[in-house]
Amino acid sequence: MPVRLALAAAALAAGAIAVAAARDDTAAAKVELGRRLFYDADLSVDGTMACATCHEQRRGFSDGNATHPGVTGAPGRRNVPGLANVAARAALTWGDPRVRTLEAQAAIPLFGTHPIEMGMKGHEAEIGKRLGADACYRAQFRAAFPSGGVIDATQVVTAIAAFQRTMISRDTPYDRYRAGRQDALSASQRAGLRAFATRGCTACHAGTDLTDDRFHAIAPPAANARDTGLAEITGRAADAGLFKTPGLRNVAVSAPYLHDGSAPMLADAIRRHDTARGLDDATIAVLADFLTGLTDAAFLHDPRLSLPPPGCPRPLSPAAAPDAGRASAPRG
Ligand code: HEC
Ligand code: HEC
Repeated sequence: MPVRLALAAAALAAGAIAVAAARDDTAAAKVELGRRLFYDADLSVDGTMACATCHEQRRGFSDGNATHPGVTGAPGRRNVPGLANVAARAALTWGDPRVRTLEAQAAIPLFGTHPIEMGMKGHEAEIGKRLGADACYRAQFRAAFPSGGVIDATQVVTAIAAFQRTMISRDTPYDRYRAGRQDALSASQRAGLRAFATRGCTACHAGTDLTDDRFHAIAPPAANARDTGLAEITGRAADAGLFKTPGLRNVAVSAPYLHDGSAPMLADAIRRHDTARGLDDATIAVLADFLTGLTDAAFLHDPRLSLPPPGCPRPLSPAAAPDAGRASAPRG
């Protein structure tokens, strides 16, 4: 290759590397920003509720209540699902197949009214005003969205979604067993794993996250008269009582169970399946024991997913410095 061309190619390659690095940097900045937003109660109308108020890390990002009321005290309708590997879900929520992206989903707790959760509907402009008043946030939004203009809800949900895509859980006793470590599961858990396959659980709880991402009825619709599930969206009587198969990672730390939180223990949740009729107590016990092998202790304590330390994550430019960073912990 003539020297001049070689130089040009090298310059192009260097340019490509610089562009890739810049892109990576934006991605990392989005995750970092999204993490702070996930824990920030300023995203709720009265400053009392963050995403993390309902999605607690130590419970696999679910919560310990049957349902969780929103900022107005209006009762929640459904049980808070965990968020392990949520980026892999083909459909989000218990019953609405139209919610297919984390960005679209995040708008529901922020602006939704059925039920009211964070209560920001009608207060959209507050988001830019509140977050823009904080110098750390201004710097973080600039790093995440270099050509982004004013801080708005689109940027907020984009960053939160980027953070949620880092909620990856692949390190459980079950995973280690599947990688060949026989002793990663106890004898009882191995018996439960066998029953899980032979008793038909894998027909729906399939794949690495133990969900087929599809909608099923585990009991006759009459059992769920107060919440018709998929039928609420499709309007089809045949869809009454269908809910999305929940993934089962970290299920042992996310009681209570089912879409309405009506099953206090794993054994109760299993017994509520019509298909589990005829399972004896011993089989249900080993099934429940197997499910405890899906707990990812590292995920539940991963500092990268926890409440970020207060203050600015990176040094502020002098121009941005004057007003100090506020705490980003959920208040209340
Ligand atoms: C008041 C409690 C509450 C708050 C606050 C809340 N959520 Fe949720 N979240 C829920 C409930 C309940 C569901 C299930 C809703 C349904 O299925 O109808 C859910 C569902 C989800 C899902 C779908 C998971 C799946 O596998 O289907 C994601 C993702 C999620 N929330 C993220 C967020 C984010 C991001 C925020 C903050 C912007 C947030 N949540 C704030 C209660 C809450
Ligand atoms: C026909 C599909 C299907 C089969 C088969 C099935 N499940 Fe489920 N499972 C579901 C659905 C759908 C739900 C949610 C139902 C609801 O919320 O009303 C669920 C919920 C659960 C839950 C509660 C999880 C949570 O986070 O709330 C557990 C535990 C569970 N199943 C275990 C099992 C076991 C063990 C078996 C085998 C004995 C089994 N399932 C068979 C579809 C199925």
